[in-house]
Amino acid sequence: MSKFLNFPNAIPKLLGEVVYLRELSEEDIPAWFERASDHESADLAGDSIPESAEMGFSWLQRHREQFRRQTGIRWAIVPQGLAASVGTIGLTITSTEERIAEIGFVIGRAYWGKGLGTAAAQLVTHYAFHTLGLAEIQAEVLQRNLASRRVLEKLGFQLERDLPGDSQAEMGSEDCYLYVLPKPPPR
Ligand SMILES: CC(C)(COP(=O)(O)OP(=O)(O)OC[C@H]1O[C@@H](n2cnc3c(N)ncnc32)[C@H](O)[C@@H]1OP(=O)(O)O)[C@@H](O)C(=O)NCCC(=O)NCCS
Repeated sequence: MSKFLNFPNAIPKLLGEVVYLRELSEEDIPAWFERASDHESADLAGDSIPESAEMGFSWLQRHREQFRRQTGIRWAIVPQGLAASVGTIGLTITSTEERIAEIGFVIGRAYWGKGLGTAAAQLVTHYAFHTLGLAEIQAEVLQRNLASRRVLEKLGFQLERDLPGDSQAEMGSEDCYLYVLPKPPPR
């Protein structure tokens, strides 16, 4: 167990009024493939388009391995009242010593604009600060990704600085912003 973070032994289920978050499983692969094949969504998230749904098994394996190595946690997002997941959200630990992680999220196009991304991110930030023990959450987002920026701003993330395109291999040559959410002070 890390001396810096309270990294869990199993992916915790996070319950909210609008959505709940649970461990990813093979049943999430078809919805993952549909989302990942959406060119606009993949472009906004900086992801490549998978060639087949079978690649979902390696996607799942990557997230399981990341969790096993205590370098990240990824959840399936399930709206209350639905059985199937509609997206995923995760934390990637970028500095264990400084207790910093990066947040990332994606929702299937049919469910955009219903508050699900915000609800999921609220659950994750609360868990990250109050249980996992993070001191800061960061997000890198394309400057033109207005929906993602709005979600971050609704959660209280502050725009920290520009990330000029040529330094961002993952996002291609486009300009990004770095957003930061520090742990809120105790009330
Ligand atoms: C980003 C994403 C997860 C947001 O999920 P969501 O469930 O639609 O988000 P919410 O409904 O909680 O909130 C979206 C907000 O963005 C706003 N928004 C959406 N499109 C917008 C646009 N083009 N311009 C300005 N605001 C926009 C919505 O109005 C809403 O704000 P409001 O509540 O003040 O009205 C989803 O759009 C997505 O999966 N996009 C593709 C992948 C991606 O970009 N991931 C993030 C990578 S950093």
